[in-house]
Amino acid sequence: MHYTTVNLAANGSQEIINLYTKVFSASEGPDAGVAIGRLVADLIDTTGDTDILGFIAVLEEKIVGCIFFTRLTLTSERTAFILSPVAVATDQQGKGIGQELIRFGLEHLKALPVELVFTYGDPAFYSKVGFQQISEDVVKAPLTLTQPEGWLAQSLRNGMIDMHGESSQCVEALNKQEYW
Ligand SMILES: CC(C)(COP(=O)(O)OP(=O)(O)OC[C@H]1O[C@@H](n2cnc3c(N)ncnc32)[C@H](O)[C@@H]1OP(=O)(O)O)[C@@H](O)C(=O)NCCC(=O)NCCS
Repeated sequence: MHYTTVNLAANGSQEIINLYTKVFSASEGPDAGVAIGRLVADLIDTTGDTDILGFIAVLEEKIVGCIFFTRLTLTSERTAFILSPVAVATDQQGKGIGQELIRFGLEHLKALPVELVFTYGDPAFYSKVGFQQISEDVVKAPLTLTQPEGWLAQSLRNGMIDMHGESSQCVEALNKQEYW
């Protein structure tokens, strides 16, 4: 297994889109699979170069895991990204690949440097890679959260999230209420 950055300028995106479609079809049904595949295609097509980073896990020349981070613009102008979506091939899940890939991505962001990383998902999984629940009184999510307990963040600088009353804006592809 090796972990590497996605070169979004190259023509390899279809394999990534297919991975997301398959993984989410298996875990949440075919409609969810198609929707996530479309979201990923949209993220790749419509996000500016400096606002998106992708990382993959590769096993025997096949992509078995992928994560994307896109810019989250805060009112304070601190540099922040949001991790979404995340997929590990169904037959490779539960082996630590998801966690390793996220740690690999976070190390890259830290070096950029990015100060804060957010995500929206299962706290039981994302707490394993440093995310903590965050109140919307601290940073308001870009859209209305249907599951506020899934609003998560971490500081890559000193571990402290010392702010209050911020709002945030996501990239265009994520700016749809159905994802929140
Ligand atoms: C969620 C997912 C990315 C985790 O990747 P992974 O490589 O399987 O996870 P890891 O092996 O690194 O970590 C396993 C841990 O995560 C938890 N976990 C695994 N799959 C999970 C899931 N679908 N939801 C929540 N937690 C999950 C397990 O409890 C496990 O904890 P343990 O080691 O203490 O038992 C992967 O299972 C996946 O792609 N699932 C389907 C798509 C999805 O739900 N994506 C996340 C939303 S964007």
